[in-house]
Amino acid sequence: MSDNKATLTVGDKSWEFPVQSGSIGPDVIDIGALYKETGMFTYDPGFTSTASCQSDITYIDGDEGTLLYRGYPIDQLAEKGDFLETCYLLLYGHLPTKAEKLDFDTRVTRHTMVHEQMSKFYTGYRRDSHPMAVMVGIVGALSAFYHDSTDISDPHQRMVATLRLVAKMPTMAAMAYKYSIGQPFVYPRNDLGYAGNFLHMCFSVPAEEYKVNPILARAMDRIFILHADHEQNASTSTVRLAGSSGANPFGCIAAGIACLWGPAHGGANEAALNMLHEIGTVDRVEEYVAKAKDKDDPFRLMGFGHRVYKNYDPRARIMQKTCHEVLNELGIENDPTLEVAMELEKIALNDQYFVEKKLYPNIDFYSGITLRALGFPADMFTVLFAVARSVGWIAQWKEMVEDPSQRIGRPRQLFTGATQRDYVNISER
Ligand code: SDX
Repeated sequence: MSDNKATLTVGDKSWEFPVQSGSIGPDVIDIGALYKETGMFTYDPGFTSTASCQSDITYIDGDEGTLLYRGYPIDQLAEKGDFLETCYLLLYGHLPTKAEKLDFDTRVTRHTMVHEQMSKFYTGYRRDSHPMAVMVGIVGALSAFYHDSTDISDPHQRMVATLRLVAKMPTMAAMAYKYSIGQPFVYPRNDLGYAGNFLHMCFSVPAEEYKVNPILARAMDRIFILHADHEQNASTSTVRLAGSSGANPFGCIAAGIACLWGPAHGGANEAALNMLHEIGTVDRVEEYVAKAKDKDDPFRLMGFGHRVYKNYDPRARIMQKTCHEVLNELGIENDPTLEVAMELEKIALNDQYFVEKKLYPNIDFYSGITLRALGFPADMFTVLFAVARSVGWIAQWKEMVEDPSQRIGRPRQLFTGATQRDYVNISER
């Protein structure tokens, strides 16, 4: 810990608080003793200036447009690795050796099936339920099936819960999709890779053989890598806060899924594609850019802007490249939605409003076009985001549970409501 201090002066009183430095990134002022010493709270709605925890997992530099998973740049992992290697890295902190990778892949592969009774949960939903509503319920229900991995103080059971989640999320997501289109569930296959198995469970039908397209499987795998973790975003913070009470890990992940669903967060990929469809043609882009700039118009460019990135989201660049690869492989030329997206990006990146507010395309801007081309309906996009982000959530949950200084999260408030007053009988009101 560095010996530099921050001094807080209020009126004629001053207090000192320790300043801590990480390995990279902004220093922090440790205000753990602030209330005890000053009788005051800090106030930071939206946590724009608040570090909620110490973590070794993911680092983002919003100004530089940098994203590192355990120190490795996202572009190198996306180009050179695969998703299960990224899962191992996020969970254990180092890239696996060949033997470690084979062991991890095998263990994940052998946990991909779900308890046969799980399929009964799906039939309780209307067929037209949003798949994210289904996933919140189904993942939460895992805690009902796996009592044996709810003792979070047991490292072995934490590891089993971790493996079960990484392995079963694609199976449960594919089942949610199949249920929504009235097709039979497809069991996972141990001879397929993680992403290929997922495409197979989503798109194969009993009536004919399904061959996994390796280019599309690689694109799917890369999309999972890009979405795997992202520091203390809203859904990860939700998982950490839920986990801080000692709750069941599957229940915590279900809470993360519920938070991710919001259009300001993981729901933006579905909202971005719907927005591009609403714009429809290149000649209407200007009209929508004007709407996004109009303070009186609630419309925002979905897939644009980010709380941390005040530069281009490094994932968006890779997502755009993957989008072109998928469209080329599928022979989709002059896709009108892609043309609208590229025109929108060109105009926005040169418009003073977006430049001044440092609003750039984020990962959700191109993911929708890519996922639709892969065959997914828009309401499945955030489900795919949840499949990928599950490993980030469980890695952050594991780090929190294993942190000896961890306590239950319990923020305070600035109270602006009525001060104490006496009850008035209804006859006197
Ligand atoms: C994800 O946190 C993460 O890491 C999330 C994520 C992850 O991997 O976990 O990266 C995934 O959630 C990406 C973001 C997906 N969301 C969207 O694309 C929805 C559209 N974007 C916005 O709603 C917004 O940019 C947020 C929510 C992403 C960020 O919001 P902030 O940081 O609270 O910023 P803000 O709302 O205070 O906006 C700052 C200014 C405002 O104008 P002023 O009030 O200062 O005049 O920029 C404007 C906003 O009106 N603005 C936009 C805009 N985003 C912000 N104006 C038009 N279009 C937009 N998209």
